[in-house]
This record gives sequence, structure tokens and C-alpha cells, in this order.
Amino acid sequence: MRVLGIETSCDETGVAVYDEKQGLMGHVVYSQVRLHAEFGGVVPELASRDHVRKLVPLIREVMGRSGSEPGSIDGVAYTAGPGLIGALLVGGAVARSLAFAWGRPCVGIHHMEGHLLAPMLESRRPSMPFIALLVSGGHTMLVRVEDLGRYTVLGETLDDAAGEAFDKTAKLLDLPYPGGPALAELASRGTPGRCSLPRPMIGKPGLDFSFSGLKTAVRLAAEGGDPPMAREDLAAEFQAAVVETLVSKCRRAMRATRARSLVIAGGVGANVSLREHMNRVAGEDGWEVFYPRPEFCTDNGAMIAYAGMLRLRAGEHSPLAIQARARWNLETLGPPPGLSALGRRTL
Ligand code: KG4
Ligand code: ZN
Repeated sequence: MRVLGIETSCDETGVAVYDEKQGLMGHVVYSQVRLHAEFGGVVPELASRDHVRKLVPLIREVMGRSGSEPGSIDGVAYTAGPGLIGALLVGGAVARSLAFAWGRPCVGIHHMEGHLLAPMLESRRPSMPFIALLVSGGHTMLVRVEDLGRYTVLGETLDDAAGEAFDKTAKLLDLPYPGGPALAELASRGTPGRCSLPRPMIGKPGLDFSFSGLKTAVRLAAEGGDPPMAREDLAAEFQAAVVETLVSKCRRAMRATRARSLVIAGGVGANVSLREHMNRVAGEDGWEVFYPRPEFCTDNGAMIAYAGMLRLRAGEHSPLAIQARARWNLETLGPPPGLSALGRRTL
């Protein structure tokens, strides 16, 4: 089975073709970062319009490069949510129309399911059940993954996402958008511990996160110091606070569930300090960490094509209506109907 996957939930247009037997046949991601940079964040209407401009040419490009004629595509998958509603509608409309024109089934995919399954695109794959830490600009959650559609959210952020905290703190420190990589670079030149920022929620039981207080603490530290704190030291302490919080919650989740594999997905997973600390703790505790390659950590069409292939192969089809949901609880997904009846594993 060969599936065309389309991702347009936010500010990246992602297209991919995934073949059940041959694996990933081709993929391309177009990032709108430069379009939104002058506004310091994603402008939803501009995002939708840019998806309209880019999506069809990108589909042509990936189909051509992967040698996929329309007749060789067995199904189309698109991100149906959660995300920016206008952006989702663009991907949904194009995907649904192509599937209709080609007489093929179509399926709407949960964006976070795509992220959760991204490590399965690699040759070194986690064993089931695994725990996934999803850390992006919009989400911070710990999820137990038992099988396709069998997800339990163990904890999530009560306010800002980790990437959002990076972006907001970067803005405070006059760094360009998107702030995460710029802040990490600044932090690499500073020393943590020269001021003391809180490690939110570490002392509390459970696996939830909270990052909104951290940016306020950074602002107070930036304004209050006499002499003023060096920006790189402030950045280093901020990064240390986020990394320690994420690592400590992952360690707690791994101990509580006795899982052997931890997956880190989402843009913040690219953070070098997070990777170093997580790898060290994994070594100490005897579990393994899996990172999708950087281009599959961030938003992409490959993860949607792969999740779509699994669901279409199991007989799941979405109706002719386009699905687009700004919010969508991951736990309500469930496995594809045929498979849950058979009780078979899918991954
Ligand atoms: O997954 P992603 O590309 O997009 C979504 O939010 O869905 O994640 C983007 C987020 C941004 O907040 C960005 O600042 C952050 O990931 N990020 C980083 C790093 N690279 C990207 N945060 C910390 N360190 C990095 N190296
Ligand atoms: Zn994402």
C-alpha cells in the first residue's frame, strides 16, 4: 500500500509518499518561518494562504521525485487536527479532493499521533510499549504508547508548552524568532547557576508540567540584577531549568511504568543539552532513548503518511466531509475499528 501524506497544521507544509514495502519514497517540508518572523510568531491567516500557494506544487514535486503516478497511490492521509483551523482546512480540502478524484480512500490523522509514530520511520525502533515525550511549540506531554491508537496521556503542561517558553523567553532577551535555537545557542556561551530560576513542578507528585512562571522569573532576574545578569548566563540558567524539569518527569514516568524505551519528539527534542542530560539519565537507569532524525522531530508529511498507511491498511476510511479540529483529545482516538475487534497488534 502506498500513501500520500499531507501536513498543514501550523507553519510547515509537509508532503510525503510512504510505501508499505519500500518505506519512505520521498518527502519535502516547506517552512514558513521567514514569513512569520517579522511578526514574532505565527499569523494564522498568512499560514493558511501560504499553504494554499505551496501545497499543490510540493505534492507534484514529491510525486515526481518518488516516481509515483496518481494510479500508484492507494490512499491519502492528511492532518485533521489539532492545529490552526484555516491551515488544517487547506490540507484537508486538497487531500480529500485528490482522493475523491483518484477514487481512493482518505483518512484524517491526529497530528500528535503522527509525532508519536515518527520514530517508527527509523531503522532503530523503540519496542512497545514505549513512553513518548512530545515537546513542541504547541504541546508538552508524556504519553504511554501501547499500539496504534492506544495512547494514555500520563501528564501534560498546565499552561505554556516547553517550546513556547523557549520562544517567549527568547523574545524577552531580544533574540530573533523562532527563539528556541537562538536561545540554546546563547545558553551554550553562558553558565547556569549564576542566578536561580525555579524548576517548575519538580517537587510536586505526578507528571504534569508548567512553564508559564519561568518566563516571569526570567524577566524579574533580567530586570532585578545589580549589576545586570549577563544574557548568556540567564539563557543558560533558563535552559537548565527546562531541561532538568523535562528530564526529571521522564525519569519518573519511566520508573512508574517500567517501560524500556523513551521517545523524544517535537522541536525542543533538537535541544543538545536536553539530549545530553536525557542520555545520561537513561544510561544510569538502564532504559533507551530514541530520537527521530531532526527533520522528523519537527512537523513533516512523512509521519502523517506513515500513520495514514497504518490506519488505511487496517481498513479505516474517513467520510467525504473534510475534518478539521482545532482541539482533539489524543486519548479518544482508539485503534482502527477492524483491528480492535481482532485484538491484533498493529505496530
Ligand atoms: O515541533 P515544532 O517544529 O513545531 C510545533 O510547535 O509543532 O517545534 C517548534 C518549537 C519552537 O518553539 C522552537 O523554539 C523549539 O521547538 N525549538 C527548540 C530548539 N529547536 C527548536 N527549543 C529549544 N532548543 C532547540 N534547539
Ligand atoms: Zn507538531
